[in-house]
Amino acid sequence: MKILVLNGPNINMLGIREPDTYGKATYANLLELIRGYCEEKNIEVECYQSNHEGDLVDKIQAAYGVIDGIVFNPAAYTHTSVAILDAVKAVSIPTVEVHISDVSKREDFRQVSFVRQACIATIAGRGFQGYLDAIDLLMEQAK
Ligand code: DQA
Repeated sequence: MKILVLNGPNINMLGIREPDTYGKATYANLLELIRGYCEEKNIEVECYQSNHEGDLVDKIQAAYGVIDGIVFNPAAYTHTSVAILDAVKAVSIPTVEVHISDVSKREDFRQVSFVRQACIATIAGRGFQGYLDAIDLLMEQAK
């Protein structure tokens, strides 16, 4: 099984950005955690982060026929991007939406998720653990 862990804008700033909301661990720490978990579970993983909407669309398109599942934190583009929703719909790859913070308890504009309707599940408010839970869900789905 091969999965793609895709992160959107400002996720590279973890550890620096709003530590009260996102914690003090860095993006490098997140990658280490995900790679270690995938090794343990015998899953091939590719991790990619971009601050650019079109890059994320390109990466989703490139996953077609190559990737079995996507763990996706589109970050701020969650709340704005029809292009990202359409890309996930286009490839029909099982995708889990992940948010580090509990977006349901934050500002009104964070209550909207365009990508959600193309995802098999949403995990929010579980910190980095949410990424691992999403990997578990994709593994279940692939059985
Ligand atoms: C986020 C929540 C989004 O609202 C925000 O724009 C982010 C991170 C999260 O992981 O909690 O950048 O996706």
